[in-house]
Amino acid sequence: MIEFKNVSKIYDTGTEAVHNATFTIEKGEFAFLVGQSGSGKSTLIKLILKEEEASKGNIIINGKDITYLRKKRVPYLRRSMGVVFQDFRLLPDKTVYDNVAFAMHIVRATQKHIRRQVPMVLSLVGLSNKAKMYPNELSGGEQQRVALARALVNNPSMIIADEPTRKFRSRDSLGNYEIIE
Ligand SMILES: Nc1ncnc2c1ncn2[C@@H]1O[C@H](COP(=O)(O)OP(=O)(O)OP(=O)(O)O)[C@@H](O)[C@H]1O
Ligand SMILES: [Mg+2]
Repeated sequence: MIEFKNVSKIYDTGTEAVHNATFTIEKGEFAFLVGQSGSGKSTLIKLILKEEEASKGNIIINGKDITYLRKKRVPYLRRSMGVVFQDFRLLPDKTVYDNVAFAMHIVRATQKHIRRQVPMVLSLVGLSNKAKMYPNELSGGEQQRVALARALVNNPSMIIADEPTRKFRSRDSLGNYEIIE
């Protein structure tokens, strides 16, 4: 369960990215946040992950007010969430298999569990045949599916995805993705 109560986020630059947001997303609910570029969608997700601190209001995750959660506790909060970032955030020097396995390694899963679970989620996202590839050898959509597999692999209580349906072409010379859809 995710609850926002009168949450605002004003960056140090003075930009108010989120203004007085109040909403509840119940267990089992699918919620879609739609808005123009720059309207604050990614910021709202960063507030849920506690990558950014709210300037005002309260954020309650699974019944716990995370507004004043200590930095040390943040990794435990993140473990309840599977996250697909807008830029995927894959590890470039690890294979598809190892990118997903690494997420399990971090939460101290056993080798046996990892060997069973990783092929299962890779099959779920249709990437069984790409397990040995590196991220730069994949299409944008394939990279996105690796990110999704990684988000799912630890059976989190919630999945948070930033622009899960936007498609990308390969990176340009500056390393930015070109958007085609
Ligand atoms: N770290 C930051 N410091 C200062 N301002 C920021 C920062 N990150 C985002 N902003 C500003 O906050 C506003 C919301 O940005 P955000 O990334 O949340 O938008 P978005 O809805 O995810 O956009 P897009 O659809 O383009 O991804 C924008 O005006 C942006 O310039
Ligand atoms: Mg965004």
